Amino acid sequence: MDGRLEAYLQDPLLHRMHEDIKSAGPVYPIQVDLTHACNLRCQGCYFFSEGLDAFKAPKPAEEALFDEFIEREKARRTNYVTILGGEPSLMLDRLKKLYDNFWGVVVTNGLRKIPVEGFENLAIAASVWGDHETDTRLRGNGKLDVFARGLQNYRDDRRVVWYYTTTAGNAHEVESVVKQCVENGNYVGFNFYGDIGGIGGDLDHRCGFDAVRRKIDHMVERYPDRILTSSYIADVITSGSLYGDQWGFGVCASLSTDHPKNQERLKSGKPYLHHYRAYNADLTTTRGCCRSDVYDCANCRDTWAHMTWILVNAERHLISKAEFTNWLTTEYIFYLASRIVDFEASVKLLPSIHARLQTERARKVPANDLEVSRQAAFEGL
Ligand SMILES: C[S@@+](CC[C@H](N)C(=O)[O-])C[C@H]1O[C@@H](n2cnc3c(N)ncnc32)[C@H](O)[C@@H]1O
Repeated sequence: MDGRLEAYLQDPLLHRMHEDIKSAGPVYPIQVDLTHACNLRCQGCYFFSEGLDAFKAPKPAEEALFDEFIEREKARRTNYVTILGGEPSLMLDRLKKLYDNFWGVVVTNGLRKIPVEGFENLAIAASVWGDHETDTRLRGNGKLDVFARGLQNYRDDRRVVWYYTTTAGNAHEVESVVKQCVENGNYVGFNFYGDIGGIGGDLDHRCGFDAVRRKIDHMVERYPDRILTSSYIADVITSGSLYGDQWGFGVCASLSTDHPKNQERLKSGKPYLHHYRAYNADLTTTRGCCRSDVYDCANCRDTWAHMTWILVNAERHLISKAEFTNWLTTEYIFYLASRIVDFEASVKLLPSIHARLQTERARKVPANDLEVSRQAAFEGL
């Protein structure tokens, strides 16, 4: 290191974030589908569209298999699990075992409340796909207002960050959805729907997420204490661009490192998460990436995948203090949303984090053209 990092860390805000992360220590992450079962069939959900429910979780009588999985992963130094499915709230006993052994986050559809007792500090990402009408159409089979049920279940529950999967044609709903989540006493992060079923219309990701991104920026300004993502993260996801690299298999960092199909890619020199595996519900087989074996990267604007893309590219972000701030705040938001750092103490930094990112951006970005600016920074390397 040529002293740049030390210079950047003279800044008190950056210093504080860096110290918090350092004290918590490194993360060795995996992902697991806790169950193949789900109490919803959301339209275009990758899990069912891509046949991942064919991998069956151990039956209740086979609990030893689950316990062995935990021990195997601990022996491998895994300390972080993203818990998906299927619907994890349908298997609370196993969820509790993961909670007791690892850091991580559980992604739930919000229909069944994960109790507070026994899960006091669990990081819960509650899904919503749009305002009530859109969400009911996409997740509730046109009948069940899943968003309303989730709001009710998690009123004033500080464990909850809404994981809002925005759809390209429904930017006009962003403000209302976020307002309801915030007024419900929760936090909000964003994800971006990939129309893997080719349904089209308002779901068509090919229309682009520019309008959604602008709304997210607005939400960051409006609710800086409640938005648990950053304009930078949204910018990288929606542009699919990072220092001149274009999003795709060749740069994705969240690839199962034991999976045969990834071996050539892992040797390419592009950085990746060295520990990572995405386990199917059978707890034995892994899939290519955090999505599936057949997923088309052109559809993927997955937040986890893109955040890890940013994080493994730490060195490139040392180019300037502004770029380092983009990187460090991404890392911090990850630690914060996953409750690896003390949540209540650290969440107080959110407004300062957003304000700082805005200042750095205003300093360097020509009006409305973030990507031109990032490209220029790259070419100047
Ligand atoms: C497969 S679900 C499993 C966890 C849980 N049952 C739920 O509904 O949140 C995990 C996440 O994947 C996201 N997801 C599913 N299909 C998607 C798609 N086609 N595009 C973007 N995100 C998708 C959902 O929004 C959800 O937050």
